[in-house]
Amino acid sequence: MKWSGVFLALVVLAQLRLEAAALDNGVARLPPMGWSTWCTENDVLPCYDDFCNEQEIRSVADAMAANGLKDLGYNYIVLDDCWGGGRDAQNNIIPDASRFPSGMKNLTDYIHARGLLFGVYTDVGTTTCRGGRPGSWPFYEQDARVFASWGLDYVKMDWCHEPSGFTAQELYTNMSQALNKTGRPIFFSICEWGRSDPWTWGMKVGNSWRVGPDHLPVWWTPPFQQDPGQGQGTANIIEHMAGLSSYAGPGGWNDPDFLMPGYWWLSENEQISEFSFWCLWASPLIVATDVRVLSDKKHILNKEAIAVNQDKLGIPGDRIANYTDGGQVWAKPLSNGSWAVILYNPNFFESVDIPVSWDQIRGWPAMQQAGNKKALVRDLWKHENQGVWAVGFLGKRVEAHAVRFITVTPYGA
Ligand SMILES: *[C@@H]1O[C@H](CO)[C@@H](O)[C@H](O)[C@H]1NC(C)=O
Ligand SMILES: *[C@@H]1O[C@H](CO)[C@@H](O)[C@H](O)[C@H]1NC(C)=O
Ligand SMILES: *[C@@H]1O[C@H](CO)[C@@H](O)[C@H](O)[C@H]1NC(C)=O
Ligand SMILES: *[C@@H]1O[C@H](CO)[C@@H](O)[C@H](O)[C@H]1NC(C)=O
Ligand SMILES: *[C@@H]1O[C@H](CO)[C@@H](O)[C@H](O)[C@H]1NC(C)=O
Repeated sequence: MKWSGVFLALVVLAQLRLEAAALDNGVARLPPMGWSTWCTENDVLPCYDDFCNEQEIRSVADAMAANGLKDLGYNYIVLDDCWGGGRDAQNNIIPDASRFPSGMKNLTDYIHARGLLFGVYTDVGTTTCRGGRPGSWPFYEQDARVFASWGLDYVKMDWCHEPSGFTAQELYTNMSQALNKTGRPIFFSICEWGRSDPWTWGMKVGNSWRVGPDHLPVWWTPPFQQDPGQGQGTANIIEHMAGLSSYAGPGGWNDPDFLMPGYWWLSENEQISEFSFWCLWASPLIVATDVRVLSDKKHILNKEAIAVNQDKLGIPGDRIANYTDGGQVWAKPLSNGSWAVILYNPNFFESVDIPVSWDQIRGWPAMQQAGNKKALVRDLWKHENQGVWAVGFLGKRVEAHAVRFITVTPYGA
């Protein structure tokens, strides 16, 4: 198949360009998947009650190793802003002894023994965003050494109380170099809330960068709430992500923030739309609600959706069409010659028919002549083939806030 050779040559070139620029720390060839402590007391908005003591973390590690999450690829456990206790006489950062009496190395060993990876949160300033816990300033190098000595695999750095006189890029580069000096491959998660267009410099500095303010477990927030430090809903993030795909790829990913499945603020359709987009964007799938209970979180277990997120090409999807009735089309090329496509209805009330024609899809084999513009369509939520479609596909009566998430494979070319 000649066209697929051309297609692959193009995507391989695109990938080489990105990889030349990517941070060379040996991790994040694929988007990370895992769990964070951030929002574990379900139904407390906006997520102020973390699970955060060693018994709770151990119980989540036990659950993830046994309940299928680890097998699906969810393998990071990351403590958000909750664990810090201060500094010792030598200025080494230490955990809150009442929550972590056995120490961090002990907890790392426990988590590693279950085949999972472990990380913590820190901050660019002297104190973190909540609770005045220790941030890393001015001890970036020392903290990096301590984190490496605990055997950590992941460090997230937040943006509260930032020291003045430095750009975000300078501060995060400094921590990135400090982590590099430890010699330990550690995933570095940049979290400056999208303020200084981190997608334009993040690839050289970290393995992911937050693209905007916190993700709240709601569908939509009015624009005045979207300043960094507040939060935004899923629909706001979807709009924000359009156009950012070209900045990310193997080694560094656009981070639209945590997933919070199980929140009743989001309808079933909305949660499915959310997970579909996070998968299409090749974004980190870090779940921040209580994953010891999965009965209300079934959609994060969808293997076909996860396969799109973890596709080895690592090319994030982007918007390819907006229609005047609101319908949108997003697409992402996959390593096996198929495309993942989302037909999305952002309208507040109205259902719409959403069409996609194959020649709207960038890279679609040009040699497919009229009369042979056929493709096999599979629905990733129904887990069913939808037959062979000539010219394009029509998502019929897609409900407000809902998606059709499909893969499309050129057929009989
Ligand atoms: C540190 O940076 C060098 C140069 O980019 C790279 O070759 C090396 O793998 C990095 N090591 C770690 C642990 O990140
Ligand atoms: C470290 O963890 C193990 C269990 O993983 C436990 O048996 C042991 O007592 C802990 N050590 C300390 C010093 O608490
Ligand atoms: C960056 O790191 C170096 C040590 O590697 C340190 O001397 C310097 O002060 C740091 N600069 C900033 C802006 O953090
Ligand atoms: C390609 O991979 C995707 C994601 O796993 C899958 O949905 C699609 O059916 C695959 N296509 C082929 C032709 O196997
Ligand atoms: C979709 O609409 C937005 C806002 O009107 C516009 O900026 C963007 O270029 C459009 N994108 C596509 C792919 O049509």
